[in-house]
Amino acid sequence: MRILGIETSCDETAIGVVEDGRRILGHVLASSQEMHGPYGGVIPEIAARVHVEVIWQVLEAALARAGSRLEEMDAIAVTSGPGLPGALLIGVAFAKGLALALDRPLIGVNHLTAHLYAGEMHQPEVAPPYVGLVVSGGHTVLGVMHPERQIEPLGETKDDAVGEAFDKVAKLLGLGYPGGPVIDRLSSDGQADAVAFPRHHTKGSFDFSFSGLKTAVYRHVRDTVGSGASAESEPSVKLPGGGRRTAVADIAASFQEAAVDMVVTRTLRACQRTGLRTIVVGGGVAANRRLRQRLADEGQVKGLTVVIPPPGLCVDNGAMVAGCAFETLRQGRTSPLDLSVEPNRPIGA
Ligand code: KG4
Ligand code: ZN
Repeated sequence: MRILGIETSCDETAIGVVEDGRRILGHVLASSQEMHGPYGGVIPEIAARVHVEVIWQVLEAALARAGSRLEEMDAIAVTSGPGLPGALLIGVAFAKGLALALDRPLIGVNHLTAHLYAGEMHQPEVAPPYVGLVVSGGHTVLGVMHPERQIEPLGETKDDAVGEAFDKVAKLLGLGYPGGPVIDRLSSDGQADAVAFPRHHTKGSFDFSFSGLKTAVYRHVRDTVGSGASAESEPSVKLPGGGRRTAVADIAASFQEAAVDMVVTRTLRACQRTGLRTIVVGGGVAANRRLRQRLADEGQVKGLTVVIPPPGLCVDNGAMVAGCAFETLRQGRTSPLDLSVEPNRPIGA
């Protein structure tokens, strides 16, 4: 069975073709990321407009890469939430049009569940139950994926998503948008223990908070190296002379270490609490090299199986949507043609 998966929940217009829920025949994405750069974050109106402009070309490119024709698709899947309302609407309207024209079932997919499914496609021997972690620009959630494919939420962020914290700190350091990949790269030139940034700990809970860490970075920059940087107003660090790169790399590495530490400790604690031995990680921040390394190393010490897909499947993509829909269809569930978008759709729904 071939399913076409459409993803437009944020700034990526992504389409993939997946066979039998596991075999990725081809997937393509176009991103409006660069257009958001000057603003330091995604501008919903720009994201939605670009989806409209490029979605047909992305479809043609994805089909060409998959060596498939549109008529060969057995179902049309689309992310219906969570995400930016206007951006989601483009994908959902496009998917409805295709489903109607081709007379194929329509399947609305939860974006967060799809991020976890990417791990299952990457490592097909992995099956629920497992501890699932989704870390992205919009979400930071930890939950248990049960065998019947129900997700039981364990914790989520109470303020910024971890990717959002990477993006905001990068903006402060004058590193551009999106900040995650730049901080990841720059951190290799810095000392992770150069600055002792605080780790927010929630006793007994699996919730996250990154705003304290973000504020600590702002304060550090203002008090030690910057000239008047403040949480909201000063977008970049001004450092005297040649010390800039080293100082910025140290801050980046120390921030990254603190953020990764909070994510890793909660995830390992979730395994301890639930007795589960497998962790599946998804979302753009799962591309982070330090997070991947720490989860792999610490997971190995504890005898856990840690599944993190390659970076191309961690970021938003259409293949994960198509794959995830296969499971939904297998359970006999499809969506009506009046499917609506759910911008705040929670992980378990
Ligand atoms: O999953 P995604 O593509 O879109 C959302 O659903 O949000 O994630 C994008 C986020 C951005 O915040 C970006 O800075 C972050 O993922 N990101 C990273 C890395 N690559 C992307 N964060 C840390 N390290 C990375 N290597
Ligand atoms: Zn995402």
